[in-house]
Amino acid sequence: MKKLKWGVIGCGGIADRRTIPGMVLADNAECYAVMDINAEVAESVKIKYNATFATDSVDELLNQDIDAVYIATPVFCHKEQVFKAADKGVHILLEKPMGITSEEAIEIKEYCDKKNVILGVGFMMRFHTVHQLIKEHIEKGTLGEIVSAYAKFNCWSPVSPVKWRQTKAFSGGGTMMDMGIHCIDLLQYLTGLTAKEVTGMCGNQIFEYPDTEDAASAVLRMDNGALFTIESNFNIPDSIGGCKFEIYGTKGAISADGTIGQVENGDVKLTTFTEDGSVSTNILEYISGNMYTKEIEYFTNAVINKTAAPVTADEAILNQKIVEAVYESQEKGSSVKL
Ligand SMILES: NC(=O)c1ccc[n+]([C@@H]2O[C@H](COP(=O)([O-])OP(=O)(O)OC[C@H]3O[C@@H](n4cnc5c(N)ncnc54)[C@H](O)[C@@H]3O)[C@@H](O)[C@H]2O)c1
Repeated sequence: MKKLKWGVIGCGGIADRRTIPGMVLADNAECYAVMDINAEVAESVKIKYNATFATDSVDELLNQDIDAVYIATPVFCHKEQVFKAADKGVHILLEKPMGITSEEAIEIKEYCDKKNVILGVGFMMRFHTVHQLIKEHIEKGTLGEIVSAYAKFNCWSPVSPVKWRQTKAFSGGGTMMDMGIHCIDLLQYLTGLTAKEVTGMCGNQIFEYPDTEDAASAVLRMDNGALFTIESNFNIPDSIGGCKFEIYGTKGAISADGTIGQVENGDVKLTTFTEDGSVSTNILEYISGNMYTKEIEYFTNAVINKTAAPVTADEAILNQKIVEAVYESQEKGSSVKL
């Protein structure tokens, strides 16, 4: 199979840890060129993944013969880098959140539309094999009407010497913008429901970040009336993380423990009623794959077939608006309608 040539912009963090290792396993993609502002990082990633070209210049990267670019830089760098890639007609898989604000995210989307390039966003947890099984169950009505859901995604994130993630002007927000946004995306994707109203609280209990939260909780009123709860903490040690979600319907429930994260792990229980009214609980069996490989393969297929990205900018913009509503609700002390 002919492989689409990819470039990577920002290859020190998630790109090196997960996405490039996923990319090199993809059937239809080649990690051809890598770029990082730190030339040593770019060079070592090039060697590690057997890429052809490394540079510390975005312009030089975009002058290579590449079809698509994966952008995994700090959020404040996204807009300028997307614009440059779009100017070159290169399709773009952009990490979440798209921009510092949802307004910036909309500018990014509109620019890509104008330049006729496909823009996708990195909500890769949708592609966890067991999440796909859960989605199938919900779509065929196994759970009945969805009435409630809960999701939680945590880590331990002390004040870092490179403070971009914890400074609002560089990141767009704290733990809800960085981690909770995955829960928001996942619950909306799995249930097919959309948040219409948000109440949120944010705080700083453990870490003294410049101006973002280390803990946030939100309640979302969905378009069918169900209430969903999202929690995200930067102040819970990874080893006791407790990343989980539950979805309840009128006929059944899903409980997923450890599936939210960067590796296809975790256990999922499906509880339903049998015909005689007794309760039946089954473990959903699945074979683990690599979410990042699928993310790259699906986006590459979208480029080859000229279809919409598997995770669209519109979906990512809505996720970001929901997080912004959490912040607005915290400030105002009241709920925010979307
Ligand atoms: N989907 C996921 O699984 C996931 C996980 C973590 C982070 N992210 C997202 O990925 C993006 C990057 O996060 P991270 O954790 O990898 O950050 P990071 O700080 O760990 O790494 C960022 C890399 O970008 C480089 N960089 C900084 N400025 C640059 C510039 N102007 N041009 C090119 N390179 C530059 C840095 O040298 C570093 O190597 C963010 O949008 C973040 O929210 C996604």
